[in-house]
Amino acid sequence: MRIEMSSVSEVKNLPSQLYSAFSPGPDLVVRFIYRLTQSYRLGKKVRLLDVGCGPGKMLPKYAQLGWQVEGLEIDSDFYAQALQLAETLQNVEVRPGGFNDIKQRSVYDLITAINGPFAYLLEREAQVDALERVYRALKPGGLFFLDIPNLLWFLKNDPEPPCAKKSVAGLRVQHQAQYEYDVHEATFTQRNEYIIEAPNGHATKLRKTDRHAIITYPDLVYLLEEGGFIKLRSYNSYRSRRATLLKGKRIMLAAQKPVRQ
Ligand SMILES: C[S@@+](CC[C@H](N)C(=O)[O-])C[C@H]1O[C@@H](n2cnc3c(N)ncnc32)[C@H](O)[C@@H]1O
Repeated sequence: MRIEMSSVSEVKNLPSQLYSAFSPGPDLVVRFIYRLTQSYRLGKKVRLLDVGCGPGKMLPKYAQLGWQVEGLEIDSDFYAQALQLAETLQNVEVRPGGFNDIKQRSVYDLITAINGPFAYLLEREAQVDALERVYRALKPGGLFFLDIPNLLWFLKNDPEPPCAKKSVAGLRVQHQAQYEYDVHEATFTQRNEYIIEAPNGHATKLRKTDRHAIITYPDLVYLLEEGGFIKLRSYNSYRSRRATLLKGKRIMLAAQKPVRQ
């Protein structure tokens, strides 16, 4: 991730605030994850690791379920924001790092990676290493849930990149993005530009680039099954109530570590 910023520096954690303002709220996701833990019969006392927790907006909602919650975040601005939030909450901890920093063994009932963290792993070696670490960190019977963009759907449908206006920290902000596909490297790049209007009329541009691996559903199933996961279930949206074949813009997949290895 690369961020360029020229002014508006007085707004604290501006990239986190922009991300939070222009992305969906946590309620739908947390309700879905709760239903998922019930459908896999995880029990009530859940110890959760949320990988790529971003600014941490899901974390308080998970804690409200009575869960013990840990967030892991690789981006320093998001991490700072999530840490600040965690300090105000019980049963929530946040640590810096990403998938390839997970070192725990058999401690989590549930590991989540919501809204794309796994797709930031561009190399196959890093993806395999991440799944090995997730598998080791789960208790027997533990559940892994991840979602990534379904970039085959993007290539087929060529959707318009986002373009929206919001008020963020009292400033008027326009977000516009561009999509680029590299069919040799199998990567997708989203170039985000935030145009921030200060009260004095000056506009500042903040740019943030996200590069994702193009991973298909069969690729992901292969990696998870090779990694020892079982009972894979796919979902189309956070509104889904039951597993279904994929047909939309997200790949959402749950997979379980067997109780007996
Ligand atoms: C679109 S954000 C999603 C944040 C949060 N999960 C949410 O839904 O609000 C993607 C996240 O993946 C994180 N990320 C990037 N590289 C990562 C890696 N190697 N391992 C884990 N997370 C990573 C980013 O820092 C970012 O927080």
